[in-house]
Amino acid sequence: MEAAIGIFDSGVGGLTVAKEVFRLLPSEDVVYFGDVGRTPYGGRSKEIIKEFTAQDIAFLVEQNVKLIICACNTASAVAIKELASNYRIPMIDVIRPSAEAAIEKTKSGLIGVIGTSATINSNAYALTIHDIDPKLKVFSLACPLFVPLAEEGYIDKEATFLIARDYLQTMLDVEVDTLILGCTHYPLLKSIIANVMGDKVTLVGCGEEAALATQKILTEQNLLSSKASQQPSPEGAHKFFVSDVPEKFSSVASRFLGQDVTNIARVDISKY
Ligand code: DGL
Repeated sequence: MEAAIGIFDSGVGGLTVAKEVFRLLPSEDVVYFGDVGRTPYGGRSKEIIKEFTAQDIAFLVEQNVKLIICACNTASAVAIKELASNYRIPMIDVIRPSAEAAIEKTKSGLIGVIGTSATINSNAYALTIHDIDPKLKVFSLACPLFVPLAEEGYIDKEATFLIARDYLQTMLDVEVDTLILGCTHYPLLKSIIANVMGDKVTLVGCGEEAALATQKILTEQNLLSSKASQQPSPEGAHKFFVSDVPEKFSSVASRFLGQDVTNIARVDISKY
C-alpha cells in the first residue's frame, strides 16, 4: 500500500475536514485518528493540548503517513507550529488556509473569527491574518456551546438559532463582511450561522481550504497517489482509529461525514 494522508482531530469534528479531502482527492488513502476518549480539547490548557497533540501526531507518524493534516482548530491554534518543526513530514494546519481565504474574500477589511475558547484565546487567526496584511481588522469570538450542539444533532433547532443569534450579535454590530468558522464542528451549523449573519456576510469553512492546501503540497512534492493517474481511478481506502470505543464514534461520525463510517479500530493513545 502507498503511504496515506494522515488526519487527526480531538474527536469526530475533523471528519468535516476529511469529507473535503475525500471529495477533492478521492484516490488518496486516508488514515483518520479521532481522540474521542479525551475530547473536547477546546476548553483545556495549552500544556494539555500540546501533550495530546504530540501523541496524536506520533500515532500517525507510526502509520507511515506521507502528510499530516491537523484538522482540529484548537490543536492548530495552540500546538502544531511548535510540534511540526520536530518532523520532516509536511504538516497542514487548518488556520492558515482559511485565514488566506478570508483575506481574499473580504472587501471591507473587517473579518470575524469564531472558535473554541482555546482557539480564540490563542489569537492564532488574528496573528496569521495580520502577518499577511496588518491593515485588516479581526474580531474574534468564542462560541463554546456550538460544539455540543453540533454533536447532539441540534443543527436545525430553534434553540440553536437563538444561541447563535445571541453569540453572533457582536459580529453583526461590528459589521464583518467575512466570518471564519474556526472550528471543526461549525460547518454543521452553517445554515443557522448564515441565517443569523445574513447574505452579505461570506462564511469561510476550514475543510475546503485545508483540502486545497493538501492537494497543492502533494502536487508540488510529487506525493499524489499513483492511483489518481489510472483510468478509471480506483478509490482510496479510508481507515479510522479512535481512542475510545468505536461505537461512540460511529454513531455521530456519519452525521459529520455524510456517509456511514466503518473500518474503525481502537488505539491506546497513552502509549504514544
Ligand atoms: N476539534 C475542535 C476544534 O476544531 C472542536 C472540539 C474540541 O473542543 O475538541 O477546535
